[in-house]
Amino acid sequence: MSTDSQINTTQTFSQSLIDWYDLNKRDLPWRNTTDPYIIWLSEIILQQTRVQQGLPYFNKFLEAYPDVESFACSSEQEILKLWQGLGYYSRARNMLACARDIVEKFDGKFPDNYRDLQKLKGIGKYTAAAIASFAYNEPVPVLDGNVFRVLSRVFGLESDIGEPKSYKLFFDKAKTLVSLDSPDQFNQAIMEFGALHCTPKAPHCDECIFISECFAYRHGLQADLPVKKKKIKKRTRHFNYFVIHWEDKVLLNKRQGSDIWQGMYEFLLFESGEEKDFDGLIRNEAKFLFNQGNLITCSSNFKHVLTHQTIFAKFFLFSIINRNSFEVIKENFELEEIKIDDLHSKPVSRLIDKYLEKEVNYLS
Ligand code: ADE
Repeated sequence: MSTDSQINTTQTFSQSLIDWYDLNKRDLPWRNTTDPYIIWLSEIILQQTRVQQGLPYFNKFLEAYPDVESFACSSEQEILKLWQGLGYYSRARNMLACARDIVEKFDGKFPDNYRDLQKLKGIGKYTAAAIASFAYNEPVPVLDGNVFRVLSRVFGLESDIGEPKSYKLFFDKAKTLVSLDSPDQFNQAIMEFGALHCTPKAPHCDECIFISECFAYRHGLQADLPVKKKKIKKRTRHFNYFVIHWEDKVLLNKRQGSDIWQGMYEFLLFESGEEKDFDGLIRNEAKFLFNQGNLITCSSNFKHVLTHQTIFAKFFLFSIINRNSFEVIKENFELEEIKIDDLHSKPVSRLIDKYLEKEVNYLS
């Protein structure tokens, strides 16, 4: 571990960072506001995606729900539909619960401090620090991936950022640095510095304001810091979707339970422990479909990678012979009937969306 004695005072570090930010910051719509609702909305979206991909989502949400009251009056289905494509849909559900709590229990006002903000659904340390500092000027540091990277490199913090105990170490360090006058500027600045300058690959060391102090630069350790050892073990899953089709309609299931994509719509799913083909499925898991219709197409080769799992999916477009059989399948599996032309109104996972983009011609 290095000493940080070369960075003369923490004030120098903070002020240098803020000066850099003033010159280099991007003009983003959630900056220059102290409205906690707008900050909350942007920060939750930005935990899920990069700035450029997040911008259209932010604009769509703000247009549909200009304040926390209108957000709270929405439905889960509407929120999931707007969130569609961002992934990790429990974030969207938590946002709705959070907005409703704020309206019902807090008279429509976000709590004004770091501690109380964390009592709300979906608001963890990061989001609470962002809201508390950007909206209320509380000198509490934000820690995201960018901040971990900057601190570990500049100050030589070599503890594994995947380990829970590292959080306190980095938090304590950042707490000594955060500007008491402008915690909002400091937090924006350190995140922006990580996003634009002290990047994961090819950081811009040659023109860096910390070139003479940076631990990683002095020791040539830019590629090794931050330390992150734990590799997430991914689970492999095989999804076999039956797109049950009759005339201009298909059957959809709304996902329940605690698995991924809760509340999102999909086709009738049979998950299998290993890869299966149509004959195997129709003889076993999907036997009730035997003699009920015809296989029109099979679309395979859908590989969908999530943080903790990789899904291999196949879609069997299956045309049902008559209305009666369609009704029986619908009742037995508690599915919803929907016109193919209306499919776009339902919130679906990116996997289902990819299938629809590819195969919509077959369906309509
Ligand atoms: N990433 C997370 N929060 C951000 C913010 N406020 N501005 C830019 N990028 C971010």
